[in-house]
Amino acid sequence: MVNSAVAPILLLAGLAGAQSSNKRGLVFTPNADWPSDNQIWVQSGSDLTWYYNYQSQPSPDYTSISQDQFEFVPMMWGVSANLSDTTFLSQVQTLINQGTNITHVLGFNEPDGSTSNGGSDIQPKDAAQAWVANFEPLGKMGIKLGLPATTGGPDGIPWLKQFLANCSDIVSTGNQKKNCTFDFLPVHWYDNFAGLASLIGERRATWPNTSIWVTEYAFANQDLQTTQEFFNQTVDYFGKLDYVDRYTYFGAFRSKVSNVGPNASFLNNGGRLTDIGSWYLGFSATNVKPTSTNAASSTGIVSGWTIAAIGLMVVCTNGLM
Ligand SMILES: *[C@@H]1O[C@H](CO)[C@@H](O)[C@H](O)[C@H]1NC(C)=O
Ligand SMILES: *[C@@H]1O[C@H](CO)[C@@H](O)[C@H](O)[C@H]1NC(C)=O
Ligand SMILES: *[C@@H]1O[C@H](CO)[C@@H](O)[C@H](O)[C@H]1NC(C)=O
Ligand SMILES: *[C@@H]1O[C@H](CO)[C@@H](O)[C@H](O)[C@H]1NC(C)=O
Ligand SMILES: *[C@@H]1O[C@H](CO)[C@@H](O)[C@H](O)[C@H]1NC(C)=O
Ligand SMILES: *[C@@H]1O[C@H](CO)[C@@H](O)[C@H](O)[C@H]1NC(C)=O
Ligand SMILES: *[C@@H]1O[C@H](CO)[C@@H](O)[C@H](O)[C@H]1NC(C)=O
Repeated sequence: MVNSAVAPILLLAGLAGAQSSNKRGLVFTPNADWPSDNQIWVQSGSDLTWYYNYQSQPSPDYTSISQDQFEFVPMMWGVSANLSDTTFLSQVQTLINQGTNITHVLGFNEPDGSTSNGGSDIQPKDAAQAWVANFEPLGKMGIKLGLPATTGGPDGIPWLKQFLANCSDIVSTGNQKKNCTFDFLPVHWYDNFAGLASLIGERRATWPNTSIWVTEYAFANQDLQTTQEFFNQTVDYFGKLDYVDRYTYFGAFRSKVSNVGPNASFLNNGGRLTDIGSWYLGFSATNVKPTSTNAASSTGIVSGWTIAAIGLMVVCTNGLM
């Protein structure tokens, strides 16, 4: 799923240290209506170390922040009519040539899902052809490859199996059998904790020792208590499992534009952090109800400018060197 932000709390980072983890990142859905929301996720003291935005290019909001502070992970969302098109590969190579330290890339977004639900709706055979054209060369360059993230539905594993079988057919020559390469398996989930644990377990049973990235998840359309319990349980679980390398909760938006229910969102309707929004960044509870409308104080703007200023300093410093 894809959706179409400001109350920075002046608290010391690390108060919620038990939950903090460098696995944690941002699935970024830029906010054209309230652009200041975009700065909330990169405020001073935030635990978020990386982001993706469903695209091959970094978001203009974050280009002034260096990769080692907030790592951008490019995604090839879907395929072109020309399945051998290598635009994604060229774009990533260009980023690298320009000095952006790209170390990971993500495959297609929900290829087993319909486009009306935010999926890229690709046949496994077609996806395999596009993967070989774009991802295999990046793997040879040492970039870590994330398989396509299927939906949490029952078609996910069968889709991946057909994809990998087709991929092997393309890269094998005669008797020389080969497999496509990948380094980690991204998953999506929008139901309860038991289901999420089972989804991950099933994939680990099918592809032993594969690292998991949970690149979209929430318990959609629940009451606040259930939403928060799920949030706490998953953050704790991912933190403890060494094979869950990274995760991005799907909630970095205002509750009124949420397509996973208002209680799952990180921001209320005035752009203030809700409890889970604040916990996710590593801060304390705000007691802001997701559906409330009270707006952020002006400190939010100050925070945005501070980040811009730090970004400028980085650019200037690099320019001098
Ligand atoms: C498809 O893309 C590949 C790689 O860029 C190119 O070599 C080929 O000519 C393209 N095919 C068509 C029909 O445009
Ligand atoms: C790129 O990032 C990786 C992973 O953080 C790091 O190991 C590597 O040293 C970085 N390379 C450069 C040139 O900064
Ligand atoms: C390749 O994918 C197609 C669907 O796109 C599927 O029908 C076929 O069975 C797959 N091939 C293998 C070897 O799994
Ligand atoms: C390719 O992957 C399949 C399924 O994981 C495995 O059984 C097979 O041994 C692999 N083949 C090669 C050549 O690595
Ligand atoms: C998985 O990892 C374990 C522990 O590192 C190792 O013993 C086992 O051989 C691995 N299995 C596969 C299929 O690579
Ligand atoms: C959000 O949570 C509140 C408080 O638990 C609940 O009353 C409301 O029904 C929830 N909203 C939805 C759409 O589930
Ligand atoms: C979630 O965790 C926070 C601490 O991080 C705690 O204050 C809160 O009570 C927990 N909520 C639930 C519903 O477990």
